[in-house]
Amino acid sequence: MRISTNMQDDIKKVLLTEEQIKKRVKEMGEQLSKEYMDKRVILICILKGAAPFFTDLVREMDCQLEFEFMSISSYGNSTKTSGIVRIAKDVDISLTDRHVLIVEDIMDSGLTLKHLTQLLSSRNPASMKIACLLDKKERRECDITPDYCGFEIENEFVVGYGLDFAGYYRNLKYIGVLKESVYSE
Ligand code: IMP
Ligand code: MG
Repeated sequence: MRISTNMQDDIKKVLLTEEQIKKRVKEMGEQLSKEYMDKRVILICILKGAAPFFTDLVREMDCQLEFEFMSISSYGNSTKTSGIVRIAKDVDISLTDRHVLIVEDIMDSGLTLKHLTQLLSSRNPASMKIACLLDKKERRECDITPDYCGFEIENEFVVGYGLDFAGYYRNLKYIGVLKESVYSE
């Protein structure tokens, strides 16, 4: 693993610019505002990756909503999720009879969100949907699709705008493909 001092040096190419992300997040916010007008939705930010997307998205929504934060960790190794999630930090309020929107950075195999939605549906929300910024559709290993998706992307390892490698690059303003030299031996 070779992480450079300057983050930009580790990026092979920019996949989505700051402007592209901003425009799409605004569109999603407008769509979600219409969808959730009068529903007093609870938005659950899945830490840590979804934090930048979440904070931008909520400011593009003009309906009444509540913020909640959840932190989950999935069992497995660094490259492969088992899909079995452990809740490291739970929401602070009851979800029973409430409209819930899970906000996540990226859907890959889908196993993490599959397990999480199963877990949360046992709390009997009035509705539960998923908003994902990115979707790596071809990697899916179970039957789950985001209800709202920012961008469908190819099967490449991306970082930035919340997405990390080994905890770094989350603070990039754009989303980029990481150079293989960073994670190869
Ligand atoms: P899955 O859908 O259960 O396979 O796992 C999704 C999680 O894997 C995301 O929440 C990310 O933490 C991580 N992940 C998947 N693909 C990428 C990527 O390209 N860059 C950074 N993290 C990723
Ligand atoms: Mg994540």
